[in-house]
Parts: sequence; C-alpha cells; structure tokens
Amino acid sequence: MTAQDGAGKSVDDFSLAEAEAEMARLAERMREADIAYYQNDAPILTDGDYDALRLRVEAIVARFPELERDDSPTRKVGAAPSQGFRKVRHAVPMLSLGNAFSEEDVGDFVDRIRRFLGLAADAPIDFVAEPKIDGLSCALTYEKGRLVLAATRGDGEEGEDVTANARRVDDIPEILSGEGWPDVLEVRGEVYMERAAFAEMNAAREQAGLPLFANPRNAAAGSLRQLDARITAERPVRFFAYAWGRLSEPIGSTQGAIRDRFAAWGFTLNEPAARATDAEALFAYYRGIQAARPDLPFDIDGVVYKVDRLDLQERLGFVSRAPRWAVAHKFPAEQAFTVLERIDIQVGRTGALTPVARLKPVTVGGVVVSNATLHNEDEIQRKDIRVGDTVIVQRAGDVIPQIVSVVLEKRPADSAPYVFPDKCPICGSNAVSEEGEVVRRCTGGLTCPAQAVERLRHFASRNAFDIEGLGDENIRLFFDAGLVRAPADIFHMRDREQAVKDAVLARRAAQSAARKEAKGGALADDKPAKKIEREFKDVANLLDAIDARREVGLDRFIFGLGIRHVGETTARLLARSYATIDDFLREMHLAKDHESQARADFLAIDGIGAVVAGAIIDFFAEDHNRAAVRALLDAGVRPQPLERQETNSPVAGKTVVFTGSLETMTRQEAKARAESLGAKVAGSVSKKTDYVVAGADAGSKLKAARELGVAVLSEAEWQALIQPG
Ligand code: IVH
Repeated sequence: MTAQDGAGKSVDDFSLAEAEAEMARLAERMREADIAYYQNDAPILTDGDYDALRLRVEAIVARFPELERDDSPTRKVGAAPSQGFRKVRHAVPMLSLGNAFSEEDVGDFVDRIRRFLGLAADAPIDFVAEPKIDGLSCALTYEKGRLVLAATRGDGEEGEDVTANARRVDDIPEILSGEGWPDVLEVRGEVYMERAAFAEMNAAREQAGLPLFANPRNAAAGSLRQLDARITAERPVRFFAYAWGRLSEPIGSTQGAIRDRFAAWGFTLNEPAARATDAEALFAYYRGIQAARPDLPFDIDGVVYKVDRLDLQERLGFVSRAPRWAVAHKFPAEQAFTVLERIDIQVGRTGALTPVARLKPVTVGGVVVSNATLHNEDEIQRKDIRVGDTVIVQRAGDVIPQIVSVVLEKRPADSAPYVFPDKCPICGSNAVSEEGEVVRRCTGGLTCPAQAVERLRHFASRNAFDIEGLGDENIRLFFDAGLVRAPADIFHMRDREQAVKDAVLARRAAQSAARKEAKGGALADDKPAKKIEREFKDVANLLDAIDARREVGLDRFIFGLGIRHVGETTARLLARSYATIDDFLREMHLAKDHESQARADFLAIDGIGAVVAGAIIDFFAEDHNRAAVRALLDAGVRPQPLERQETNSPVAGKTVVFTGSLETMTRQEAKARAESLGAKVAGSVSKKTDYVVAGADAGSKLKAARELGVAVLSEAEWQALIQPG
C-alpha cells in the first residue's frame, strides 16, 4: 500500500503537467487517508507515510507555486498514528458488554441473573444504571495516588500507552484528591468529547481549511491517539470513570459506593445515573434518558445496567468476553437512504458465498457507510433487493450496516431481480447449498484460491496467530507468488527471504509501472533506493513478527485452524480440556471410534455438543488437515498450554461432575465457579473424573462414581474444598 506513496520521479525533473498530475494523485491519496482517519476512525496510513506525502506536495508547491490551491493538502495536519505507541498488556482484560436492543432483551437479562443466582422470579436485585457514552475506553493506573500509566483498550488484552496524552486531559487527575485509595488503583472509563466543544472545534478547523471530524467519537479517539501530546492538550477531551481493573486492595462492596469514591478522588462520573430493582424501573430510566438525550451535553448510544453488589457480580462472572452482571441497552439504530450500486460476491474460508452491497457512500449516524452485508441469497430474494435500487441502510453501534428495505417507488423501470451466481466467482467451481442450508458454498475445496486465501487470513488474524504485518494485502501477495499456500509455509518464509523480497519488489515495480501508464509517459523510477530500503525493513519486521508467533497459545492455535463451528470460545474450551496439542490430536484420532472412551470424554465436556464434536472429529479425520497441523509443528510452531486461571486452586486441572439438586447455588453457577478455578466440568462420569459433587436425589451418576471408585463429595465438602485460604 505504501509503495506508491511519495515515490517516483524526483520533483526537480517534473514538467508542469507532470507536477499537476502528481499533485492530483497525492491529493487524492491524502483525501482517502483523511476520510479513513477523520470519518471512519480507521487510519490507513502511518504518521510517517502521511508526512512523506505532505513533504512531496510541499516540494512540488515550492517549485510550482501556481499549483498551490485553496484546498491544498499542504494545509492539512498529519493523520493519526497507527504505529508509534508502546503496547501495554492489561493486567485484567478489558472486556466488552453484551447488548440488549429491546425491553424483552432486558427482561431476559434480569431473568437470567435471577435464575443463575437461584432467586425467585420476582426477587428484587439492585442495579445501577448509567448512560453509555460513545467514546473510547481507557485504563488509568495510579500508584500511591499518582498517575503512572494510561492505556487504550486495544483488543482488550493489549492496548497502547497514551500516558503522555492522558496527562493533558483535564478530567484525568494527575494526583488523586481525598484519601483512602489503594497503592495500586486502575480506574477505567471513557474518553469522549462534548457535542458543543466538538462543534466549536470543527468550526475552527473549517475556518483554517482543515479536514473535519465526522463525529465526537472520532474526534476524541483522534485526539487521544496523537503522537504529539501538545495537540491533545488543545483539544476539549474529557473522561468519565465507570469501572476499575487492577487493585491492590478492594475499594468498596457495591458499584454505587465505588462511584462515590471515584468522585471523592477527583473523577467525573457519567450522569445522570440511577438505581433500580427490577426491569420495569430500568425501562423507566431508559425512557427518561432517551427523552433527555437531545439535551445531554454528549452523545450516547444507550444506557448500561450493572448489578450493584460486587459479591453478586463476582458470583455471576463472565460469559465469553462480557460480564453476566451488566448489559448495554442500545438506542434504536440510525438509518439513511442511498443507492445500491453493485452486489459483489465474496468467498469465505469455508467456501460460503456472501453477497456484499456496494453503496453510494452515505453518512449514517456520523459514519460514512459504503458497504452493507446482504447475508445470503435468501435475504436478497426475500427483500427483493436489486442493483440500482434506492435502499434504507441501518447501522446500530459497531455492527456491520444492513439493508433494511427497498424504496419501491424509486425503483428504475429497467431493473431486474438479482440472480445469485451458481458458480464460484473465483475458481468457477459449482456453488451449491447443502440440504437445509441457505448458504451456497463453492465446491472447489482446497483447489479454490479464494478459500485458501481466506483460511490463511483467518490463520494470521488478530484473534488467531495475530501475526503483525501479515494482513490481507500481504497474504494475497505471498499467495499469488506461490510462497505461502498453507499455514506452515508462513513459518518457512525466513528460509526464502530472497523470494519474499523479490515478491515485494515485484509488487512495487508493478505499482510504479501502473502509475507511469496512468500518466501516459515512460517516466524513470530514478530514486528507488530509499523506498527499497524501507520495503526491506518491512520484510525484516515481518519475519521477526512471524518468529515471535512460533510460541502461540494452544487456544489460538486451534482457533487458527479454522475448523467449522469452532470459534474462539470453543477453541479456548478445547485448549483447557486438553493440556497439549499432542494430547488433543491423539484423543481426536481415538474419538473417531464411536465406542471409544476418547469420544465419551470429548462429548462429556460441557459446552461441546454433538454437532461441534462431529465437525472437529471430521476435521482431524481428513489426511490433509492432519498433515497441515503436522507441518506447522514441524516448522517449529509450539502451541503453549493455557495458563490455568488459578493454578493454586486445589481443583485446578481436575474434572468435576455435578449431580443431584444443589442447595447453595444453581447448577450453572456451580459450573461457572468451578471453571473459574481452573476445573473442567463434565456432564458424565468416567474414570477420568476426579470428583462427583452429589446433591440431594443424585441418581445414576452417583452410582457410576461409586462403581468406578471416583471421589464423591457432598455440596458442603465441595464448598470447603474450594474455599479460599
Ligand atoms: S462498563 C466489563 N459503563 O461500552 C465491561 N462501559 O460496549 C465494563 N461504555 O468497552 C464496562 N459507557 O467502552 C461501562 N457507563 C458505562 C459505559 C461503558 C460506555 C463503553 C465501554 C465498553 C463498551 C462496551
């Protein structure tokens, strides 16, 4: 992507016409980068690359002053850095919230909590309700009352160090006020910008001819992620506190009490907050906030409900990446009209053909939308969506925009129903839908390049192997160059460094040839040395990044294989259930036999159903899949066993079966608690079971335990066993 930027002929050799053409190209490139940064909050250039473009524009203007225009790109500031901040690991992961889109969803949320805690269907529960502000979350660590670190959320595990910038935010105290804070205190909250301040800032930018931010969220994000902290200081960025991470000692026993302490220590809270004890009271709060929304000084996208008591929060714990004790109740989605220009078909890693709507760009709720998902063939038919139609697009929070409906009155007279392809657009194989499935899949399997590329993308992606620098574009390049066809090839790239460099240079040459052709002349690429140096540095960094990922978590390894039905959660469950990759492979091999103990053990894992189990066993029954895994291990990839969540717990690594009715907790809570202590909870008893916890009226499982000589505990004995201290 960067190869074409700022490269090419020296400005000194330009004719006026060439300079003009180059100026137009640079302006366009900078405009794209500005849109990505200011409107979409998704920078496509690094600071350095953006500066290189600007320097080149300046050089042109210096030689050809007549080319300086009112909207000259030289008058713009640099784009946001996408590199340049130190990475920081969060001691306590920063999780997200589940969403509720209706009162029914909220009712379910409250009922779920009651059921989990084993409370009566109408038992009151104390909740704190707060506005959900649309900014970016940030974690502030204080040591002995002094700010020592500010980090963005990042992917929740690892964020960026923005301490220097956070120090310039007025709402973020450098030194805490009041007293009684613990030695280590991590306060979490949202960095945002008020609407009025945002409007004022944009107006000033417009005056100065600077590009405008699309919305306060992007403005806040862009301002915090500035390499130059002085810029942050000039921006009206604010912060409110609503949660916490690492603490050296507890700071309260309820959400409400902790809010009060935050306020006493000098933080701003998100107001108006309220208390409620049932779903009806939560709805009343929601409606009140919805009515007050236009008058609030900041943009909100919903409200958040949190169980007040921390002991209950603790018991409720987390599902996947979100707490069971909190939910975000979102406001209805925002909509806009636009025109459907084209329907593209993408081929996914399992061969699924997914239609994507290409739209005339339109702003929906402050974000420019040009693509929307169409889900599948059925959806297009059901809504009778046709190319050329005027459609209503909708965007809710961070979900992918959707097409809600077609405006039939505006349908062009010559429009025709969309015909879904029955061939893979990439490899030409037949695309068919399996019985009972709406999705059409390419039957090309391993021979379909689209599937292969998508599998590689998945493998290298953030939640799988997370290989920095091996993004979509590079995967395509190395695939096309024949360097990387299967995951293991990635780990052999260092052995083929020269070929990798050649591929990168070939891309560069192709890009510059295309540019020359566009300019209609044979221009010499006369200063390539610096660019080549930079490309080689990128290659070196990529190879280092690959080496660094040879040691990868077993969960990421399994997830990266792209087994059908195996998402992150299942992959983690598998990694917890099988200590090493060798164990896992052996058991999956044995489990092919329906009568085997391995299969029984596999199916006994809570959370592994018959369909998922079948898909996994089938995957490993295929020679080429096993070979691909072997090849990875042979290439020096060493999947690391997961760290136990609590290694010093007496039940860590043990397999437990709960049976009969429990008295002090629900079955669901018992299971969640055991798992959080590192135990595996199974649904049936086998020789591998360590404990059977038997409540009242235990039946066949208790009997099985006795027969197999498995330790049987009463509920009280179990509680005593897991009691801390
Ligand atoms: S509590 C365990 N409270 O919404 C998660 N989050 O959609 C604790 N957010 O990542 C988060 N206002 O960035 C919480 N009053 C509020 C919030 C809030 C906005 C953001 C936060 C979070 C995201 C989840």
